[in-house]
Amino acid sequence: MQNIAVFGSGSGSNAENIIRFFSESSDVKIGPLVSNTSKSRFRLIAEANAIDYLEFDNTAFENEIDLIIENLQEYKTDWIVLAGFLRKIHPKLIQAFENRIINIHPSLLPQYGGPGMYGMRVHQAVFDHNETESGITVHFVNEHFDEGEIIAQKKVNVETCANPDEIRAKVQELEQLYFPQIINDLIQ
Ligand code: GAR
Repeated sequence: MQNIAVFGSGSGSNAENIIRFFSESSDVKIGPLVSNTSKSRFRLIAEANAIDYLEFDNTAFENEIDLIIENLQEYKTDWIVLAGFLRKIHPKLIQAFENRIINIHPSLLPQYGGPGMYGMRVHQAVFDHNETESGITVHFVNEHFDEGEIIAQKKVNVETCANPDEIRAKVQELEQLYFPQIINDLIQ
């Protein structure tokens, strides 16, 4: 059995999709869900799916990282999936789970990545630069924001998108279609 903790800060559409994908799996267990903010939908999603939920605020993610690592180890966490987790990962967490933390980014890295580039900001930048393509990048997390080794990328044509929100919708479709399968391919 492989245990995957899913971290997030937002609406949790990827977390929900990952939970659905692995719901029948006898090899993979999703949990706990972890968030740095009560404003995210992660608590609700955890409750709805009978998955444990842990919340640590940003101060804890900075100053109490040993406690967070202990918690994850108690759950026998094998992998950490960042699904819209908008916080830099502490180096100690990266060391404790070396090559075991993966992130999804809503652009074709290395383009439109780095500090401050998340969510709509990414799609706005892609739109402002008149890009013809965008997509998703799934990558390992290292100590440099959005620079870890790339595991997979999927592309979509965004030439006809009239605004950043249309780009977001197309990229989100890719996330829903491919992210759980990419995770599955990696860990099997
Ligand atoms: C997703 O689009 C994900 O790619 C992005 O945040 C969104 C979270 O949506 N991640 C980043 O921008 C990371 N830099 P969700 O909470 O509905 O899954």
